[in-house]
Amino acid sequence: MTRALAALAGSFVLACTTAPMAFAQTAPPAAGGPTFTKDVAPILFRHCASCHRPGEIGPMSFLTYESTRPWARAIQQKTVSREMPPWGADPAHSMKMRNDRSLSQQELDTIVAWVKAGAPRGDTADMPPVPTFATGWQLGEPDYVFEMPLEWTIKAEGAEAYLYFYQPIPFTEDKMARAIEIRPSNFAVVHHSGAYVVDIPDGYTVKDGYLYDDKGQQVPPTEPMGKKASSGDDAPLAGADKLISYVPGRGIEEHPDGFAKRIPAGKYIRWVMHYNPTGTEQTDRSRLGIWFARGTVTHEVLNLQAGDPVPGSGGKGLYFAQGKEVLYESDDTTGRRGKTPTIPPYEGNFKMMGVTPVNEPITLYALTPHMHLRGKSMKWWVVYPDGREETILDVPNYDFNWQTQYELEQPLKVPAGSKIINVAIYDNSVKNKWNPAPHLPVYWSEQSWDEMYQPTTQFSVDSRDLTKMPKKSTTSEPRQR
Ligand code: HEC
Repeated sequence: MTRALAALAGSFVLACTTAPMAFAQTAPPAAGGPTFTKDVAPILFRHCASCHRPGEIGPMSFLTYESTRPWARAIQQKTVSREMPPWGADPAHSMKMRNDRSLSQQELDTIVAWVKAGAPRGDTADMPPVPTFATGWQLGEPDYVFEMPLEWTIKAEGAEAYLYFYQPIPFTEDKMARAIEIRPSNFAVVHHSGAYVVDIPDGYTVKDGYLYDDKGQQVPPTEPMGKKASSGDDAPLAGADKLISYVPGRGIEEHPDGFAKRIPAGKYIRWVMHYNPTGTEQTDRSRLGIWFARGTVTHEVLNLQAGDPVPGSGGKGLYFAQGKEVLYESDDTTGRRGKTPTIPPYEGNFKMMGVTPVNEPITLYALTPHMHLRGKSMKWWVVYPDGREETILDVPNYDFNWQTQYELEQPLKVPAGSKIINVAIYDNSVKNKWNPAPHLPVYWSEQSWDEMYQPTTQFSVDSRDLTKMPKKSTTSEPRQR
């Protein structure tokens, strides 16, 4: 099975933020050499079992000695090459991440020593308890669940276009979410999906998941209509629209204490669904679980694309393709990357760069590189006002199959006068084993045979302390048909 297929065939993987972290630290290899029960099982349970257990996307289970032993050599090979566990960040050049699932050098040495010694079992008494994993919602029953407003039938064959469904947010006041999870009802068919907060154009209405225009005509679900929403507060902020996205292995986000995503009253949830036909007709009705913030929320979590200015703080963002500035209009309807030059055939080193001016202090929480099959590497760094540079995240071998969000262990304070710079390299040559068509120019779109330059960071604006801001007095009602 190819990697991409394996990743898609599976059901839900525990998001790293919720993976059990309670296992004891691994001891250095014992004098008699490491054994499975004493030394290796704790490593596999901690770093691998979230995927490598029955019913998960890993092709074999590492919960028992019997099921692990036949794979000893493969385990050594895949861990030494750092292909497993999947983790794209180079730890030597990246800040510490709280969801880092990679092996420490010591854990790697233990595995290698164990395999070299013939992969012995060890004393049964040493075996740690098999970890338990949440089934269903990762944090237990959510406080509120949005169900996709309709059940969609995915045809047996062919390609499914991106689909957009809408539903009103029924709250009477803005709600702050400390955690959000999006779960397919049918994991086999959801290639990826997302939930966004949007406004709909004036005169438009929503009924049973579909959008209707000002003449009452249904907008086809394949058409991405709908304006971006403000954050719902007095001064509208861009970057508040994205709630969460799902790809196999990822679909939950939990924010640090005091920080939350806003779900504004009177706006709409837009579901963006990309389904994969599986040979038989299937249905899906994904769900969006919301856990409300407990205690005081001081800051709203926003999303920022590298190269865009910090919303509300002025300054001009900059994009470069192959060193030349890309002129764009940051207009939601035209798409700002319309003028990005295509990647030429056989080009092995196409460079995109985004420069975000930071005009007022912000705090960064997480970074998500998103490219497609030509994506080769991506790196973020900060240039501080005194000229000092610091790398935040370096992903030297980007892998499209693992859409990882990197969550900073310590949120990063970025002072006013800094710049956040992102560079991505694309490989359209024959050397790229994932490249479907090196002889063709590559355009920019959401389809995986085209490319995307979407380096997203999660951040908040320090001055926007919600405890010190005037409360909104009125909310608008969603326009339900
Ligand atoms: C996030 C999910 C995930 C985690 C965590 C993970 N794996 Fe995997 N692993 C997979 C998937 C999916 C495949 C099959 C596709 C592939 O090879 O990439 C795989 C494949 C493998 C293979 C190759 C099997 C073959 O057919 O040759 C080995 C060996 C392996 N994993 C070992 C590990 C070990 C050891 C760990 C922990 C140290 C680990 N994996 C952690 C998902 C995971």
